[in-house]
Amino acid sequence: MTRRRRIYEGKAKILYEGPEPGTLVQYFKDDATAFNAQKKGTITGKGVLNNRISEYLMQKLGEIGIPTHFVRRLNMREQLVREVEIIPIEVVVRNVAAGSLTKRFGIPEGTPLPRSIVEYYYKNDELGDPMVSEEHITAFGWAAPQDLDDMLSLALRINDYLSGLFLGIGLKLVDFKVEFGRLWENEEMRIVLADEISPDNCRLWDSKTNEKLDKDRFRQDLGNVAEAYQEVARRLGILPEAGPGDHTPPKLVQ
Ligand code: TMP
Repeated sequence: MTRRRRIYEGKAKILYEGPEPGTLVQYFKDDATAFNAQKKGTITGKGVLNNRISEYLMQKLGEIGIPTHFVRRLNMREQLVREVEIIPIEVVVRNVAAGSLTKRFGIPEGTPLPRSIVEYYYKNDELGDPMVSEEHITAFGWAAPQDLDDMLSLALRINDYLSGLFLGIGLKLVDFKVEFGRLWENEEMRIVLADEISPDNCRLWDSKTNEKLDKDRFRQDLGNVAEAYQEVARRLGILPEAGPGDHTPPKLVQ
């Protein structure tokens, strides 16, 4: 195997230099962390499943006109993406109370929210990703007002589309986190969806039973974590035929 230059290693993914300028290879690990990496573990097969799930969702979002960094999946654990400048803001959209919202405001988990609520967090592990307002984001120059407008409207369109898509397969999209990046083409800059969309950064509950089918199973030690991710892939109709294992050598898949 040829050696590739590693550009960045995060908690769940590694970015390598891509085959041509302006591209990167995004490698999905099985590592899982929670609570700003205070809890660490491995979910066997997670990387394979998230690679597929994120490919599927980014492609679908692309089809409705959401610009994304996704180019194509390369193999079981890797996808080719456009190189973007990541905006250091995590955009969270919530439809139902869960997670930090329940703690912050004392609202019981599962309470439907009167409308979708968007929150911003500053991506900074040392500070524990603090929640920030639009004022902080524009005053500190993390994003320009126009960038933020674009991020907000994209996040709401993503929420509308994905809520419907998941509802159709018996899943409730409780909340999710997305990240955006700046992509330059000639002299023009566009804001595009980056990172990944998977059960690592969405809360997905079975519509009938409210069973959790996402990373909360890991965060809360509920067990059957990999099975939950597999169930999401199965309902999306994209469960890898050989299962989530990747014991066979990587092969190119178009
Ligand atoms: P929260 O309720 O813990 O604030 O999480 C809201 C959503 O954002 C949930 O779907 C999980 C996701 N999330 C991430 O993807 N990364 C993070 O670091 C955190 C804290 C949450």
